[in-house]
Amino acid sequence: MGRLQDKACVITGAGSGIGRASALAFAREGGRVLVTDLRLEAAENVAREITAAGGVAKALAVDVGDEDRLKAMIDTTVAEFGRIDVLYNNALMAKADVIARDNDLLAYDRDVFSAIMNVNVLGGVMACKYALPHMLEQGSGSIIFTSSGSSLGGDVAAYTYGASKAALNWYVKAIAASYGKKGVRSNAILPGPVQTPSKIAYSTPEIDADFLDILNVPALGEPEDIAAMAVFLASDESRYVNGALYSVDGGQSCTVPFVNVTRKMLHGG
Ligand SMILES: NC(=O)c1ccc[n+]([C@@H]2O[C@H](COP(=O)([O-])OP(=O)(O)OC[C@H]3O[C@@H](n4cnc5c(N)ncnc54)[C@H](O)[C@@H]3O)[C@@H](O)[C@H]2O)c1
Repeated sequence: MGRLQDKACVITGAGSGIGRASALAFAREGGRVLVTDLRLEAAENVAREITAAGGVAKALAVDVGDEDRLKAMIDTTVAEFGRIDVLYNNALMAKADVIARDNDLLAYDRDVFSAIMNVNVLGGVMACKYALPHMLEQGSGSIIFTSSGSSLGGDVAAYTYGASKAALNWYVKAIAASYGKKGVRSNAILPGPVQTPSKIAYSTPEIDADFLDILNVPALGEPEDIAAMAVFLASDESRYVNGALYSVDGGQSCTVPFVNVTRKMLHGG
C-alpha cells in the first residue's frame, strides 16, 4: 500500500520542477495523478513517465490564469478518477517580459500586478472554488499550495511575486478555517532556493554560492525535497495539519538576519 494509495490527485505546473517531482512522487505512492501544465507536451511527458513506471496518470493542458480551464481541470479529475482527494496548486506566472517589469518599481504598472496576481493567486483560489464542492461532498480533501520563502519578508525585486505568495498564505489559512471542520485541509509549502529549470536558468555558480551561504544545510534544495513534503500533506499522515505554512528552505529562515555577521565576528567566517 502506498501512502497515497488510489487517491485522486491533480497538480498544476506539473510539467517541470517541483510540480513534476511531486507528480512522480504522488504516483510512486499509489496516487492517480492528473498532470496539468500550460505546456501540454511537458505534462504529457510526465504522465508518460508515470505510466511507463506502472503508475496511473493523465495529462491536460491548463493555463491556471484561465478560469474555464480550471473548471475543466477539476471536471476532468472527477470524470477520470471518480473523485478528487488532492488539489496541488503549484503553477506560477513565468512570462519573462512580465517578470522583468516586476523587478523595477519605476517600470511597474497595473498590468504587471494583475497578470501575476491572476496566475499566482487566483489560479489557486479559483481552482479551490471548483474542487471544494466535490471535497465537501466526500467529507475529505487536501489542498496544497506552493508559496515561497519570498512571502515572509521584503525584497528589492519580484515585488508582485512576493506579494502574490503572501496573499496565498492568507487564503491557505482562510480556506483551512472555512472548511477544516468539514474534513478539507489546506496547507502551504514555502520553498527556499530549489534547483528547478526556472531557477537554474537565471543562476550562475556565484549566485548558487551566495544562496548556499544563507542556507543552514550543506546543499541547495532539489525538487524532490519539496515533493517529499507535498506527499506528506497529501496523505492522511497529515490529518492533524491544517492551515500550516511549512518552510522547506534549508533553514534559510531559522536565523536572525545578522547571522553571517556573527559567524564572521565570532567564528572566523
Ligand atoms: N525553484 C525555486 O527556487 C522556488 C522557490 C520558491 C518557490 N517556488 C515555487 O515553486 C513553484 C514551482 O516552481 P518551479 O521552480 O518548479 O518552476 P518550473 O519553471 O520548473 O515549473 C513551473 C511550471 O509551471 C508551468 N506554468 C507556467 N505558467 C503557467 C500557467 N499560467 N498555468 C499553468 N502552468 C504554468 C510551466 O510551464 C512549468 O512547467 C512555483 O509556485 C514557484 O513560485 C520555487
